[in-house]
Formats: sequence, C-alpha cells, structure tokens
Amino acid sequence: MRFTHTTAVITGAGSGIGKAAAIRLAKEGAEVILVGRTLSKLEASADEINSLLNRKAASVFQADVTNEKSVQELALFVDSNFGDLHILINNAGGSAQSRILDTPETEWNEVQNVNLKSVFLVSKELGKIMAAGVKHEVLERKNRSIVNVASLSGHQAGAHIPHYSSAKAGVINFTKSLALEMAAFGIRVNSVSPGFVETPLTEDGLQNEKFAAAIARNTALGRVGKADEIANIIAFAASPEASYMTGTDILADGGWLIK
Ligand SMILES: NC(=O)c1ccc[n+]([C@@H]2O[C@H](COP(=O)([O-])OP(=O)(O)OC[C@H]3O[C@@H](n4cnc5c(N)ncnc54)[C@H](OP(=O)(O)O)[C@@H]3O)[C@@H](O)[C@H]2O)c1
Repeated sequence: MRFTHTTAVITGAGSGIGKAAAIRLAKEGAEVILVGRTLSKLEASADEINSLLNRKAASVFQADVTNEKSVQELALFVDSNFGDLHILINNAGGSAQSRILDTPETEWNEVQNVNLKSVFLVSKELGKIMAAGVKHEVLERKNRSIVNVASLSGHQAGAHIPHYSSAKAGVINFTKSLALEMAAFGIRVNSVSPGFVETPLTEDGLQNEKFAAAIARNTALGRVGKADEIANIIAFAASPEASYMTGTDILADGGWLIK
C-alpha cells in the first residue's frame, strides 16, 4: 500500500487513463478527488471505486481545468475538505484533428488550453496547498508528487494534430520548470507520455481497422496499450518508490519510437 494517509487529485478522472489512475491510487490506500466537467461520469467513477473498496475513498468535484476561477474553486474545495494535498495527477486533455493550414485560431486555443494551460493553472493553485503542507511537517517529510500526462506526440509530432503535439511538448518542458521550482519543497514533478492507448479519446480511430492495424504494425510490442498499463506507471511516478526522480518524462509507447 504505497498511498496510505495520502490525498490525491486526479483531473479527467471520469474516464480512460484518469479513471484507471484513480482506481490504482485508491486501491493502494489514497483518498482520491476526481475532477472533470461531466458530473455523471465522475460520480460513476467514484461509485465504482467506493463499492470496489467498500469505503468512501473517492470524492468528486466538477471543474473545467481551463478556467482559472473554476480551478480556484477546486483549490478551495480541497483545502477546506482535506486540509492538505500530497499527489496531483494532471491528466485532463484531448484533441481535435486538423491540418495547420486549415486550423481555426479558436481550435488552436482550445487544444492549448485543455492540454497545457490547464496543467499550469491546476499546478499553480493546488501546488500552493502542497507547498503549504510541507511547511507544516515537523517530524518527517511525506511523499509529495505531481504527475503530468503528456504524450508520445510531445516527442514525435503527429500528422493532423499540430496543436496537440505542440501542447504536449509544452507539458514535457513545463514539467521540468515546475520540478525545479517545487524541488525547494521536496515535491517531485514528472510527466508520463503514453503512446496509443484504448480510451474514449482513441475509440473512434481504433474502430477503423486500417488505422488500428497501422498502429499495431508501427509499435514494437505489436498492440495498443491499456489504460491500466499507463495508470501503473503514473502510480509509480507518484509513489515513494520514485523518490529520486524529478523533472523527467517516462515514455510508455509500446516501443513506437524505436521502430
Ligand atoms: N489515449 C491515448 O492514446 C493517449 C495517448 C497519449 C496521451 N493521452 C493523454 O492522456 C490523458 C487522458 O486521456 P484519455 O485517453 O484517458 O481520454 P479521455 O477518456 O477522453 O479522458 C480525458 C478526460 O479529461 C476530461 N476533460 C477534458 N477536458 C476537460 C476540462 N476542460 N476540464 C476538466 N476535465 C476535462 C474529460 O472529461 P469531461 O469531458 O467530462 O470533462 C475526460 O474524462 C489526456 O491528457 C490525453 O491527451 C492519451
């Protein structure tokens, strides 16, 4: 149990990788706060976690992580209900498909906002609670960690996702800046970059047999990943087992880049 006496916020926890990460952390003892825009999805995730563990391990908070006021309300909720925060998983994200020459400015901004600005806003507001918690620790320092979900696309730009590739490369670099700043508090910050993973985000694409076959062909392990496999890596980066790791990115792409 790596996360006993640990409070964790997971954004985008109503589905996919975020939900799998929330389940992983809660199974190992954490109190998890699930954040997203769609309350019904968050409540379904929380119900699943609470009935699986037979305790109230999961709470929900509806927030748009691209909106500063909404993120400040989240910070207020965490502070007043939990009084401290040890782990933050910045997982919310998404993309649209377009060519640079056809991309409207609004779409560019939306993709930057949900993938990159959100990581800045949430890290800023919840990072203050994490740093304040460190100052109250007298006898021993607790494990505190931020994990940002970047992407293989942040390493190798994808066709027709110029905004997403740029934003995720930004997340990888923002992670390093944040790690430098938070090291003063002993708070570690790393990113995890998944390759192709079966989630609602990739569902439509993977239903296209030709596309799915091309992914498998170009991946050394010959298959797409599962949300649980990424959740395991997020949990490792968040856990005390990664106590000497900060400011780095863990690429989990099934061997896409080596092919
Ligand atoms: N699946 C892959 O192959 C893959 C590969 C590389 C990286 N990733 C990254 O992994 C992360 C999780 O994606 P996923 O694949 O698990 O897809 P997903 O199931 O669509 O999860 C994304 C979650 O983010 C939430 N979200 C989106 N916009 C938000 C906002 N403005 N405020 C709050 N929450 C928001 C969504 O819920 P609401 O719409 O209800 O808010 C949703 O639950 C993303 O950062 C994605 O870029 C995925």
